Amino acid sequence: MAFGIKKLHLVDETPIQYLPNISQELGIEMYIKRDDLTPFGAGGNKLRKLEYLVQDALDRGATMLITVGGAQTNHGRLTAAVAAKYGLKCAIIAIDDYPGEVSANILLDRIMDCDLILKADDGRDEDEQLDELCPKIISEYEEKGERVYFIPMGGSNELGALGYYDCAVELDRQAKKMGIEDARVIESVGSMGTFMGLYCGLKNEGSSLRLTGISISPFGSRKDRRIVEYFGQMKEKFDLAIDAVREDFDIQKDYTRGGYNNPCKEVREAIYLMARKEAILLDPCYTGKGFAGIIDMVRDGKMKPGEKVIFIHTGGFPGLYTLHHRVEFEKELEDGIRIIK
Ligand SMILES: Cc1ncc(COP(=O)(O)O)c(C=O)c1O
Repeated sequence: MAFGIKKLHLVDETPIQYLPNISQELGIEMYIKRDDLTPFGAGGNKLRKLEYLVQDALDRGATMLITVGGAQTNHGRLTAAVAAKYGLKCAIIAIDDYPGEVSANILLDRIMDCDLILKADDGRDEDEQLDELCPKIISEYEEKGERVYFIPMGGSNELGALGYYDCAVELDRQAKKMGIEDARVIESVGSMGTFMGLYCGLKNEGSSLRLTGISISPFGSRKDRRIVEYFGQMKEKFDLAIDAVREDFDIQKDYTRGGYNNPCKEVREAIYLMARKEAILLDPCYTGKGFAGIIDMVRDGKMKPGEKVIFIHTGGFPGLYTLHHRVEFEKELEDGIRIIK
């Protein structure tokens, strides 16, 4: 509980595991923090953010959670999970096409009784389209008697980031106990809340752990401005005793591989490597891309031999079952299936 702010208790301490086979393969000392093992709705990083956000929703008397994301949003699926657990109605709004089947996160959303509202992209800025659509959908539910609590993309506001402020405190304590307090923490960056919570937590609590984010989608000047603005909001809201400028945030921009949720061979190869060496399943949108980034950072000399790395497994495995990734996996993996007639 950061800054005395009340939160739901959804997540216990998640383990940090040493990865001996990957460490040997890459020539670094690699650990993984299993935030994919958080215990509701198939797990993932968003549960930590939702501890704060849904507590706030309940305190305000909400009967319904509405959030936004892509059609296959992990954040939406976990919002649906927490809504189910606390007896709230839930809907996800996405500017996206219907993939043509009820699979992966969409299947899990619907199993947990969450509505999904999809509007095809009309080419304008996504925020502009959402700003237009969300109030209409919210009013529709409110007219039916719901009291709606709106959660922004990825749960990435000041309150949501506190979930990862707490995780930073947990990481620092665990790393000290394991004697790896000089490690570099690495995580995949989307809507930035996880990164921002970790950054503020590690710095504000005086941790010696360093933080690197690997962006999974193009990180242009707008995001450069947003990250500084986001930090300013955190500092102001929680009266943080630290300062930061853009250069203080180590965000790797070179490993986005064609954009958000794009099928990519190197990402699939990273997923195979982790699965075949350590039996840990990564996802094709976030953690697979993050790990592919780590592999490239070793190759590019951005990571020193023997360097200690704690990769945060932020979850997302249902993404393996999304149609556009599945067809690519199938092409590469079908040859190992023998059908005896
Ligand atoms: C599996 C997974 N990893 C990482 C992230 C990135 O977290 P953030 O949006 O806080 O940057 C997300 C966000 O949706 C995610 O679903």
